[in-house]
Amino acid sequence: MTNPENFLLIMAMLDEALPIINKQNLQYIGKLKNPFTIEHYSGKIESMQVNLLVNGKCNVYGVDQIGTQASTLSTYLGAEAFKPSLIINAGTAGGFLWDKAKIGDTYLGYPKVCYHDRRINLPGFKEYGFGYFPTYDCRTIAKELGLRLGVITTGNSLDFTDKDIELIKENRGVVKDMEAASIAWVANQLGIAYVGIKTITDIVDGSIPTEDEFIMNLKLASHNLAEKTAEVISWLAANKH
Ligand code: ADE
Repeated sequence: MTNPENFLLIMAMLDEALPIINKQNLQYIGKLKNPFTIEHYSGKIESMQVNLLVNGKCNVYGVDQIGTQASTLSTYLGAEAFKPSLIINAGTAGGFLWDKAKIGDTYLGYPKVCYHDRRINLPGFKEYGFGYFPTYDCRTIAKELGLRLGVITTGNSLDFTDKDIELIKENRGVVKDMEAASIAWVANQLGIAYVGIKTITDIVDGSIPTEDEFIMNLKLASHNLAEKTAEVISWLAANKH
């Protein structure tokens, strides 16, 4: 049973999440479940109860646990704990010149999210590797809120190889991130709709090294992400998704 008044919001980094925590006055509840590092915040956005999980800091290296591993776990534990009617994944991501992406643009994932770094050249396994997890049909939201739309592809590296780019293009990817496909996989397994909201910090095929551009634009992108995430949640709540 899912609870129709309750959305689960999954974000990887605390710095990405702080603007929406502050904007919506979400309250820090504590660690979701021992011994995991996942941090739980909770509050209302319009009429909607929102449980926000961030992956927390790595016990060994002290940095945010970005990537698919921790996100799979936080999504599963969050879905078990809150029985949400919708799983929303908000984060920052890389965009592409070939889609005329600009720093600070926000995309909604549609019609699918997939992996770009799971290469398994065995019969049947190739498609399994990519995943191709369907998203919520975000077309009307994108149109009404003026957001961009496209395929999000996920890998566990911030930078990229030529092969990554080849496979992103093959899958018509326009947004490159490190979590979406893992979160969508859990949502799909549980039969819960997945919405991906991604704001661009860096242009993957541009001239600035990804890590420099990411750090330069993280604050601006996270601010935009908070604004757009609140708008999307309000829209979904008002339209009874
Ligand atoms: N998050 C922000 N920028 C990214 C990129 N270029 N690749 C993967 N994840 C990202």
